[in-house]
Amino acid sequence: MQFELSGIYNYKKINLDKINKIQRKKIITNVFSKKSSTMLGWLDLVDLSEEDICKIEDFAFETRKKFKNFVVLGIGGSALGTKMIKHAFFDSINKNDKIKSFVCDNIDSDYFLSLLKSLNLKKTIFNVITKSGTTSETLAQLSIVIDFLKKKNISLSKNIFVTTTRDNELYKFAISNHIKVFEIPESVGGRFSVLSNVGLVPASIIGLNIRDLLKGAEKIKENSQLLDLTNIAYTTAYINFKGLQNNLTNLVIMPYSDRLALVSDYFAQLWAESLGKKYDLNGKEVFTGQNPIKAVGVTDQHSQLQLFTEGPNDKLFMFIKVKENLYDFQLNENIRFAPYLKDISLSKLLEYEFLSTQFSLTCLNKLNYGIYLDKINEESIGELIFYLQMTTAFMGELLNVNTYDQNGVETSKKFTKACLNVVGLKKEGKLIKEFINNRRFIKL
Ligand code: PA5
Repeated sequence: MQFELSGIYNYKKINLDKINKIQRKKIITNVFSKKSSTMLGWLDLVDLSEEDICKIEDFAFETRKKFKNFVVLGIGGSALGTKMIKHAFFDSINKNDKIKSFVCDNIDSDYFLSLLKSLNLKKTIFNVITKSGTTSETLAQLSIVIDFLKKKNISLSKNIFVTTTRDNELYKFAISNHIKVFEIPESVGGRFSVLSNVGLVPASIIGLNIRDLLKGAEKIKENSQLLDLTNIAYTTAYINFKGLQNNLTNLVIMPYSDRLALVSDYFAQLWAESLGKKYDLNGKEVFTGQNPIKAVGVTDQHSQLQLFTEGPNDKLFMFIKVKENLYDFQLNENIRFAPYLKDISLSKLLEYEFLSTQFSLTCLNKLNYGIYLDKINEESIGELIFYLQMTTAFMGELLNVNTYDQNGVETSKKFTKACLNVVGLKKEGKLIKEFINNRRFIKL
């Protein structure tokens, strides 16, 4: 991975040479000594033991032998990492593949029914992923799957496995039904869990080399402990932080790659849920955070770029570029009226478009930086994941917020449960019912 700073040196309000070195040392030390939170267990995921790696690989091997379809049921941090990884490898994996994979992270009945009906359920294995074991969406999906399997006399214990924390109700349900469980450590939060069993088991089942994913992550873990500008995660966090201080309240994440399109979704959750906070760690009301804006290059050059260039001056840009594609096209002269396309490759055209966008934003004094991957493989995806996680962790420290909670999300979850008359939520139930009854509509 390479980090390109040219768009920062042009932005005069940030001087990387004046980075606060004492603050940097304190933050890096706090994170790696795990002083700053009890939820830093994700830092250790890269050191998975040989025994645990083998357990995952053996299970994946058997699963691929027995099943034709693999369906993940989960939401948020229990799904987005796997979706991103699966999407990044869609082509190379599916070539000789025996197992088709799906990630269901919504409760849209139309989609869910059409998926279930399209699958030979005997040949389908479902992975229920939920750290808490209490997420309504995931449990609702599980309930439907159980119904479908029972109606077809298919064994739950063979066609379902669960990934969750030890001893919650789902865990107990799984154990009592002889359903296999992969555990999630308590100290690893949902959105930081992709390199735990949450993401590694699915990755291995779809045919990826999880050792290389971890190897890439390990490289960034090492880099993230450096106390100078070459620590790319800290430097990125610092740039974003300074940007925010200069009213750049939006961070555009723009991979120039279709295969990396879902990195934007994955990162948007990580950045938004970890940093969007009402209070800082001293209990002061801060209403902080930086809005992630999802974009894909070059597609969004013909969509959002107009706003990026001429709209409000409140954005900074993270570009992600892959140096070498798996395939390429050489353009020839069959389109006579566009002679400028002759003799270049499609990747070259993409590169010129990327450089032109980067340069035009730089000329407009828009803060931007670039992350370059040599190619997309397990190792580089492992690097990218850990880099994005580390950057988020450092940014949380700079903002002095609790990166690992999500009270705003919990409130909505609580109201949903109140609608479902869960005991102990009478007050919330009354409030939400009042709200529902008093809504106003304009009818056509
Ligand atoms: O990052 C998080 O903690 C959340 O996005 C969770 O992953 C999400 O709410 C799903 O929770 P769970 O894994 O408990 O079902």
